Amino acid sequence: TQSNSYETITVETRDAVTLITLNRPQALNALNSKVLEELIDAFAAYQADESQLCAVLTGSGDKAFAAGADIKEMSEKAAADFYLDDFFSPWTSEIVKKTRKPWIAAVNGFALGGGCELAMMADFIIASENAKFGQPEINLGVAPGMGGSQRLTRAIGKSKSMEMCLTGRMMGAEEAERSNLVARVVPHDSLIDEALKTAATIASKPPMAVIANKEMVNSAFEMTLDQGLIVERRIFQILTASEDKKEGMEAFIEKREGKWKGR
Ligand code: HXC
Repeated sequence: TQSNSYETITVETRDAVTLITLNRPQALNALNSKVLEELIDAFAAYQADESQLCAVLTGSGDKAFAAGADIKEMSEKAAADFYLDDFFSPWTSEIVKKTRKPWIAAVNGFALGGGCELAMMADFIIASENAKFGQPEINLGVAPGMGGSQRLTRAIGKSKSMEMCLTGRMMGAEEAERSNLVARVVPHDSLIDEALKTAATIASKPPMAVIANKEMVNSAFEMTLDQGLIVERRIFQILTASEDKKEGMEAFIEKREGKWKGR
């Protein structure tokens, strides 16, 4: 099913998978405030809809996932506007933190600046062979503002991240996979199919365990090893009390597929 109430994105659902598509191909899907507002709404709707278990975010058109924050919009703002609005903060507070369910970025072309940063907010990235990642903000006299200097560095390490941020150069799909920025590279024409297939696999797993696994892996970025190991053990222990744990183990022993309740 398709919901057409948005101007800058489209949202479709296929069984338990939500496909969100950035839809400003004429501006290479540049991220303006309308896109942000609509993405916040779409991710909140995905999170709230109990029938939806995994999401994919991609870009429309053949060229770009997103070529960055909208430079035309930003060029008209004063520093005070950026500071007083805490510009870029809702990406993290509203989209990343509040979306506890999994989502995948399917990067089909340019993922630059805010586009690269948005892709890195996903739980993981699947890239087409045409994908190009970069943090070219240096060329505009600024710097990453939506997490690029932090998430890129954690993903690919200091040397490569520093080189990318200081030179503004783009990284192709093959290098991105070799550098652990992306989980997998697939042929351009099968990107959406592959991303939806991967999302459907995730959606077929016990839903509470999916959220728990996501929370655990994210903890590895937020805390010390000792703290993270405690989070892991506690969440593991909570899961052992779930109906799906009982069902999952019984199903294994009885050599059949599990039927999940999500609790
Ligand atoms: C607004 C953009 C845009 C952007 C592209 N467009 N990127 N509009 N914001 N980030 C628009 C172009 O102006 C053009 O519109 C149309 O999309 C097609 O782009 P072209 O440049 O004609 O395409 P091409 O020659 O193929 O070049 C592709 C490109 C180039 C290499 C990706 O568009 C580019 O360098 N874009 C900017 C990338 C960038 O710097 N991103 C970081 C933004 S800063 P018209 O109307 O002319 O057809 C950021 C973080 C925030 O994201 C920083 C804090 C302030």
